[in-house]
Amino acid sequence: MNTVLVTGGAGYIGSHVVQQLLEQGERVVVIDNLSTGFREAVRGADLVVGNVGDLDLVGQVMAAHHVDAVLHFAAHTIVPESVCDPLKYYGNNTCNTRNLLACCAEHGVEKFIFSSTAAVYGMTDNGIADEDTPTKPINPYGTSKLMSETMLRDHSATGAMRHVILRYFNVAGCDPQGRIGHSTPNATLLIKVCCEHAVGIRESLSIFGTDYNTPDGTGVRDYIHVDDLAAAHLRALDHLRGGGDSQTLNCGYGHGYSVREVIDAVARAGGKPLNVIELPRRPGDLPMLIACSDRLKRVLDWQPHYDDLDFIVGTALRWEQQLLCKRVPLSSVA
Ligand code: UD1
Repeated sequence: MNTVLVTGGAGYIGSHVVQQLLEQGERVVVIDNLSTGFREAVRGADLVVGNVGDLDLVGQVMAAHHVDAVLHFAAHTIVPESVCDPLKYYGNNTCNTRNLLACCAEHGVEKFIFSSTAAVYGMTDNGIADEDTPTKPINPYGTSKLMSETMLRDHSATGAMRHVILRYFNVAGCDPQGRIGHSTPNATLLIKVCCEHAVGIRESLSIFGTDYNTPDGTGVRDYIHVDDLAAAHLRALDHLRGGGDSQTLNCGYGHGYSVREVIDAVARAGGKPLNVIELPRRPGDLPMLIACSDRLKRVLDWQPHYDDLDFIVGTALRWEQQLLCKRVPLSSVA
């Protein structure tokens, strides 16, 4: 039986995908260097601790496990950090992807699913992006992912493989059953930060910009629940295994929420208002970014199941409460 190799499978999105793959009866091997991932997030799959840029290690794993498809999540993902340390992003996100593709070529792995990002679009004319919207990333994170997309397309054009590139919009929420979640330290993502504040880890929450040309002046984003996103990966795998052609697909719900709407949802879920500080715009932020996801629905026959901000926020807050319980030493509970 063939095995799916998941790089970064101990991380936030990767671990949710691994869980769904296992539930569908797939054999899964994870490579993760645990720099931001967690061993305990890999439940029921083999975990190899190492770097995806390590040609020898990845080659050994591919040969030993009869890998037929790669799902590539391992990456750095913090936009402000990418601006301060671009080479870290080009090294891990771009160069390591190149090595991974070389291993695929050497070991005859012909199916590849790649975690890309809405950050490849940069500023769009109307805040809505379909897959043909010009790509003009405005930060090294987006550029590092776009460069990997280009490599993939060029490599697939030789006939060596077929790929599905999934461009994630704002991924949020956690496993509705509370088994795994978003544990990344020093998170900057809005819903995670709001939930950390709601459970008392942060004293306040900053709104970065209240003067955008949006209905309430704050940034608007397309928040997609991580399990709906994970399901898109399983559909993409089916697509490639069924002989489907290479694709680039946006992953979002096609509508957005403002920062203030997210804050209100977290306040509802937590039963108390948040302590909000209004600050100037964060450099590099866009007023609005919403996915046109018609192609994802059409090509992969994907349908969302959790398109509900209160549900998304509820799962995120529950996970944050669980994390807090783990952090509190037993001596201080008594
Ligand atoms: C960006 C990337 C996205 C990437 C993600 C992960 C772009 C266009 N998008 O999303 O592809 O996956 O980072 O790093 O580059 N906000 C606050 N206060 C906070 C945090 C955020 O007001 O404490 C606001 C932001 O200004 C923005 C919205 O909330 O309007 C969402 O921000 P965030 O969750 O950080 O994600 P993006 O920057 O949209």
